[in-house]
Amino acid sequence: MSQHITSVKGTNDILPEESPKWRYIENTIHKISEEYNYREVRTPVFEETQLFARGVGEYTDIVTKEMYTFLDKGENSLTLKPELTAPIIRSYIQHHYDQTYPLSKIYYLTPLFRQERPQAGRQRQFHQYGIEAIGSEYPETDVEVIAFAMDVYRRLGLTAEAGHLELRLNSIGDSACRPDYLEALRTELEPHRSDLCKTCQERFESNTLRLFDCKNESCQGILDAHAPKITDHLCDECHEHFGTVTELLDELEIPYMLDHKLVRGLDYYTRTTFEITSDLLGAQDALCGGGRYDKLVEELGGNSTPAVGFAAGIERLIMALESEGLFPDFTDSIDLFIVLVGDSVRNRAYKILQRLREQGVHCDMDFLRRSVKAQFREANRQNADYTIVLGENELEAGEATIKNMDTGEEQMVSFDGLGGFFKRNL
Ligand code: HAM
Repeated sequence: MSQHITSVKGTNDILPEESPKWRYIENTIHKISEEYNYREVRTPVFEETQLFARGVGEYTDIVTKEMYTFLDKGENSLTLKPELTAPIIRSYIQHHYDQTYPLSKIYYLTPLFRQERPQAGRQRQFHQYGIEAIGSEYPETDVEVIAFAMDVYRRLGLTAEAGHLELRLNSIGDSACRPDYLEALRTELEPHRSDLCKTCQERFESNTLRLFDCKNESCQGILDAHAPKITDHLCDECHEHFGTVTELLDELEIPYMLDHKLVRGLDYYTRTTFEITSDLLGAQDALCGGGRYDKLVEELGGNSTPAVGFAAGIERLIMALESEGLFPDFTDSIDLFIVLVGDSVRNRAYKILQRLREQGVHCDMDFLRRSVKAQFREANRQNADYTIVLGENELEAGEATIKNMDTGEEQMVSFDGLGGFFKRNL
């Protein structure tokens, strides 16, 4: 026997038992997006590699280590999308969304690909939903994006009050104030530079803000003791923007904690950054992350346009909902299972089955030519609400006994009346 092939490391099949959970989450997201007046965009699975190099940042982990990049037959360098903000902005510029919608409110649900080390809550193919509000510089847009994220979790049963969620918030300033902050950061850390890990020492000059992303405990200790807070170094405009964001969150009673080390691992952010974490997850505890990115549209060749958004992992959301038992009961059931007696009735029974399906009845019959007893077992296994037994006599008479599998109650119905029976009883 030849060896069987399994799915690639870090990728998962979504099996029939699991797909109702996905549909439940997807339906919730479609519904909330409509309520908040966001419109869906679906982009291709691959893009030109330079979109991510320019959009996400050449020195980020995603671009340097995690992308699935390949040459096609025309020697074009293509990459499976590792995130969707850059593709959405590419599409926004290419299709001139701004001409119809000065504020373009977009949402997406999509598979993504990152070659990371797989572990619980971290896959190489994973799924995100997210939103991007492109065109407004004002802080109420930041708050709408955060409120949207919180609302999805609330409606699915996860709340900050129940201790499931923590909203972490920061502002990383803009091109007016960040250079001065980075200078101050380097000055404070200079005496401890040789105690930092090798990666932090390499990043010290060129990518100073990324020091906050380091997982090394001793580096984090040095930062805790010596790093100035970026929110203490914001210019007036950034300070005012951040003040209004926190004021509005207070107004909406959305609890948050200020985390001055939250710089996020992608290069495009300006001003507001946020993440929602959950203690229901393991080491990979970020349910979602996002922030403002006022320079990206311009960097990708569009007109200078401010924007803000977030994206959330669906696998992590499923883990959190499962751990709290927050999914509804998705037990599969069908309305009717037709039990056949004898081979001669099969074709005519199949015609009845098809007619019922056309009328919207969820029904099935035996396709494995099993005994009557085995067919009843199958009807039970499928949680059929009703069964009918069809033999020569029933077909001749044009009617059959229909049995309620819960109560055992039986009644005669004509084949022509079956559709009506299900309309009345289900
Ligand atoms: P991100 O922080 O890279 O941001 O990803 C957002 C979320 O996607 C994470 O918080 C996590 O829930 C999920 N996620 C990321 N990587 C994986 C993985 N390997 N396996 C499972 N889940 C994962 C972004 O992608 C930005 N584009 C967000 C954004 C939108 N910022 C502005 N607009």
